[in-house]
This record gives sequence, structure tokens and C-alpha cells, in this order.
Amino acid sequence: MVALTLASPAQTRRFARVLAPLLQPPALVTIEGDLGTGKTTLVRAIMRARGVRGAVTSPSFTLAQSYRGRYGEALHHLDLYRLSRGADADLFAWDDYLATDAVTFVEWPAAGSEALPAACVRLELLHRTPRSRSARLHASVAFEQAAAEGAAAEGIQVDEPVTDGPAAAVPPGAS
Ligand SMILES: Nc1ncnc2c1ncn2[C@@H]1O[C@H](COP(=O)(O)OP(=O)(O)OP(=O)(O)O)[C@@H](O)[C@H]1O
Ligand SMILES: [Mg+2]
Repeated sequence: MVALTLASPAQTRRFARVLAPLLQPPALVTIEGDLGTGKTTLVRAIMRARGVRGAVTSPSFTLAQSYRGRYGEALHHLDLYRLSRGADADLFAWDDYLATDAVTFVEWPAAGSEALPAACVRLELLHRTPRSRSARLHASVAFEQAAAEGAAAEGIQVDEPVTDGPAAAVPPGAS
């Protein structure tokens, strides 16, 4: 886990630009956090950094928005806040958003917990002050290290570069 402080919306966008090139399809990225913690702000900036032009709107009413990145990769942005578990979730076209050439971002992933595979990157955003947010990133050790280094290089405060993933427990050369 890596913990960071995003001191302003601009820092959230800067963190997004650090994450954007680290994500390769297929990838599922979940973003959890209370209302207004900056989930859409972060995903929108990732889309921009991956070459999406034109409007990147919040999918809070449409449930899903799809884009293409500059390498032709599919980029999906889901917001499951209004999707209820059960019948609603059963009818949702999950497969359309989980192709092998896609990077898929999911705000409010709880309603998809039975349908979605394990996320390779899990982000949690928390309110800290009116302008700042705490972020927690759970990913592979290599991803966490790259994200923490990239964030620090961008002037983002890294509070806790703790690598607690399973790979961290494997001594070098053990495999
Ligand atoms: N450090 C910060 N990072 C991101 N957003 C911030 C920050 N500080 C203040 N904000 C403000 O908080 C709001 C975040 O809105 P955003 O739509 O990104 O949140 P969200 O988590 O997607 O909300 P929802 O749960 O409704 O989808 C914006 O108005 C933004 O300007
Ligand atoms: Mg949102």
C-alpha cells in the first residue's frame, strides 16, 4: 500500500498523470471513496493523459462511458453508484467493459463485486480538508514503487510507501 496526500485538485490531476502511463491493458482499476473525494477528477485526468480529446463526462447517470486512447486501446469509465446489486447488476453488460485490450476504471465498484474480476489497481480516496484528499493505492509492488516515485518527483507528499503485497514477502531469488 502507498499512502499519499493530494493537496489540491491540481495535485490529484498530477497524480493521475503519474498513473496513466503505468496502466497497460488488460487492467481493472477500482476507485473507492465518498462523494466528492475526486474519483472522477482523477479518472478524467487519466483519460486526458492517455490522449482522449473532447469531453470526458462523469458516468454517474449513464453508468459507463467509453473512449479510445492514443494507441487505440479501449478506455472505459464506469460509475456504479446508481446500480443496485441483484437484478440490476445481473443485467449489466460487464463483458463489454472487460476486454483484453481495455483499461477499465470503476467508481463505486461495490455493486459489481460479484461480476468484476479482482482489480489490479485499487485506489481509495478520503476527505482530508476541503481542498485536500488522502489517497491509498493497492497494487503490485512494482506498480506501487513506480507510482510512489513518480508522485514524489511531482511534488506529491508520499506518507507511507509501505509494500505489503505478497510479492514483498518473497526473498530475492526464491522463485
Ligand atoms: N484534492 C482534491 N482532489 C480532487 N478534487 C478535489 C480536491 N479538493 C477539492 N476537490 C473538489 O472536489 C470535487 C471532486 O469531484 P469529483 O466529481 O471528482 O468527485 P467524485 O469522487 O467523483 O464524486 P462522486 O462520488 O459524486 O462521483 C471537485 O469539485 C473538486 O474540485
Ligand atoms: Mg464521480
